[in-house]
Amino acid sequence: MDVSRIRYKGAGEWCKMICIIIGTRPEIIKMSPVIRECERLGLDYFVLHTGQHYSYEMDRIFFDELELPDAKYYLDVGSGNQGKQTGLMLGKIEDILLDERPDVILVQGDTNTVLAGALAASKLHIKIGHVEAGLRSFDRDMPEEINRVITDHISDYLFVPTDVSKQNLLAEGITDGVHVVGNTIVDATFQNLVIAKSRSNIVEELNLKKYFLVTLHRVENVDDKQRLENILTAFELLYEKYSVPLIFPMHPRTRKQIKEFGLEYRLFDGLRVIDPVGYLDFLMLESNATLILTDSGGVQEEACILNVPCVTLRDSTERPETVEVGKNIVAGCESWNVLSAVGELLSSILSDNNPFGDGRSSERILNYIGIKS
Ligand code: UD1
Ligand code: UDP
Repeated sequence: MDVSRIRYKGAGEWCKMICIIIGTRPEIIKMSPVIRECERLGLDYFVLHTGQHYSYEMDRIFFDELELPDAKYYLDVGSGNQGKQTGLMLGKIEDILLDERPDVILVQGDTNTVLAGALAASKLHIKIGHVEAGLRSFDRDMPEEINRVITDHISDYLFVPTDVSKQNLLAEGITDGVHVVGNTIVDATFQNLVIAKSRSNIVEELNLKKYFLVTLHRVENVDDKQRLENILTAFELLYEKYSVPLIFPMHPRTRKQIKEFGLEYRLFDGLRVIDPVGYLDFLMLESNATLILTDSGGVQEEACILNVPCVTLRDSTERPETVEVGKNIVAGCESWNVLSAVGELLSSILSDNNPFGDGRSSERILNYIGIKS
């Protein structure tokens, strides 16, 4: 038996076994540096995948590209309404936790997988580490905001990316277990950008020079026909004004909604819709883009880290740091606002200020959970 895999001493006492729970594209990407660090340190850990995302290009591609070990458990939960999906995960995660009895679980972000994982662990008195804790959009209509708030209030270790998120927790009375560690997306970006440059040819394959990169998937945008139409109008006006193609790796939720609303006729030649791409290709698309338009959380952060101007197609952001450093404008979905934000960012000079840390977040997280409280 390999003794080094049995116990692990962190900054203080012993933590025996870690369970890393993931389920969607951003969780796989943002947990990948933590998984790599567990491997490097020879820790006793296992990965539990809920199967919230399951299509090859939303899931498996990242394991292959990032050379991640397979999940020990795959729950095959799939898609469903918010409550049903969360409930199904809750029961199945509980079964695994009862069998494995890890000392701590780690969840990342704000998805239904995160809420289910944290709830299951809390009822079994298993310690919970929330990676990317403390983010707030202050919009309780978003399923993600509910997931964040509840998870933060039942977590033992709150790994906040910045002081802004720490202050959000303090304002809600959460004072214990809060550690500012940076965001693991910086680790992931730094670890993979160099590899992406040598392995990805997507910019050449798509014959791109100047282009805008677009992503869209938030419930509040794509499940609302009017908002979705407004955004498509903004894209069309941008194409008319700038004559640069808009590259759109389309999230499966968005594809489904465009079909359901009969909006296919609003897609146009300059809007180049492609399937979602792998992380290496996406990093290349981001880093070479003239500007990014998105409603994604992770993409706002990556744009900021890569110094690419970003227009956020939402009414709020839980990443105000990106706005404060002048690299992101929260424009909503009305075309006039979107065009004005694009114009403003294209004429400004961006600083290279990265508020999300130095790329060593995973190391800090694993160091902290070595301490038993
Ligand atoms: C989820 C998260 C969101 C996160 C996003 C990352 C919640 C509440 N939402 O949203 O916070 O930003 O993941 O991408 O947890 N589908 C597929 N293949 C897949 C996955 C989904 O075709 O692999 C389609 C299905 O039609 C499904 C729809 O996309 O109904 C939505 O999937 P779901 O996981 O419910 O939510 P996301 O919109 O992906
Ligand atoms: N991403 C990707 N391929 C794509 C689109 C996005 O690899 O076609 C990556 C992107 O680099 C980022 C993450 O997916 O790290 C963001 O995921 P998403 O937008 O689905 O979720 P969110 O961050 O909004 O929760």
